Amino acid sequence: MDTQIIQVDEQHIQINLLRQAGEIIKAGGLVAFPTETVYGLGGDALNPDSSRKIYEAKGRPSDNPLIVHICRMEDLPYLVKEIPEAAKKLADAFWPGPLTMIFRKSPAVPTETTGGLATVAVRMPSHKTALSFIREAGGYVAAPSANRSGKPSPTCAKYVEEDMAGRIEMILDGGDVEIGLESTIVDMTEEIPVILRPGYITKEMLEEALGSVREDGTMMSDESGQAPKAPGMKYRHYAPKGSLVIVDGEEARVTAYINEQLERLRREGHRTGVIGTDATIARYRGDVCKSAGSREDENTIAKELYRILREFDDEEVTAIFSESFDTAGIGQAIMNRLLKAAGHHMIHL
Ligand code: TXA
Ligand code: MG
Repeated sequence: MDTQIIQVDEQHIQINLLRQAGEIIKAGGLVAFPTETVYGLGGDALNPDSSRKIYEAKGRPSDNPLIVHICRMEDLPYLVKEIPEAAKKLADAFWPGPLTMIFRKSPAVPTETTGGLATVAVRMPSHKTALSFIREAGGYVAAPSANRSGKPSPTCAKYVEEDMAGRIEMILDGGDVEIGLESTIVDMTEEIPVILRPGYITKEMLEEALGSVREDGTMMSDESGQAPKAPGMKYRHYAPKGSLVIVDGEEARVTAYINEQLERLRREGHRTGVIGTDATIARYRGDVCKSAGSREDENTIAKELYRILREFDDEEVTAIFSESFDTAGIGQAIMNRLLKAAGHHMIHL
């Protein structure tokens, strides 16, 4: 299959292009599109065949449910059994935006889309191209992140192309995404809503809108124990080809320790890499050293992390060390993804 790549501009929506993309979805095809978090791999959420095609294109196990993307609040009731009061509050506060909510599903949603579950994940993205595309596609677009299973989510169209060229009909290239990590997922089917995946919308922000929320116990811990509630969180995600170890501790000790390890590993024949920050990166002696940004603005780190992980693969780095990050605010989502990439391998000095 030839994959058509089309440039789109969020500031100047060309509705004819998005209509073309929407027609592909309505005909049962797949289109990758930009959102504010990461690129999505879209298909018709109400068509079981489309969902099957998504799993195939991603190489993803079909028990891992998809998020249904909508563009208007009035389209939500069709997908769900009921809308809890708390969900209305969160929708008011954070939709459109990087928040996904889990509801009991209505019969309209095929179980192929929900990985066999009786619940459905729904998100209304804020990206203008995404919103227009969803409307032109009929209003209900199932979309996981547009990466092959096991790779970091794509933060620009180039990475979508690397993973999906020849597998899908079209890629809408809207440039770099704004946030760089996937949406916060909150389970609204529980009495007290539960955060299943941390993201840009933090626990503090949810609490301010709701009063109380809980966190899934498996969210930041090792996956070997209890099964996580979001099926996707159980798979080893975002894993670079090389080994990745996170080193936590006082700055000078971390730099010294990492440099020692780099030297040893290089002697053993490894190509070494480091994920540091603007303030520290010049001190490292790895073969490939990359700054994720500044600790003063962790949004920059969220935005760079997946690109950096992919670049280490491209540059064939076999042993990577990363500094550790504060888990306040967006830092919790950063560390959640980094820990997964590292298979929870973290050293405390
Ligand atoms: O930011 C995002 O959420 C991006 C963009 C494209 O919107 N999408 C995304 O989708 O990250 P995906 O499929 O890569 O991750 C969805 C996660 C998976 O871990 C999946 O298991 C979980 O959501 N999930 C989906 N439906 C669920 C459900 N009914 N119950 C529990 N977890 C669910
Ligand atoms: Mg994903």
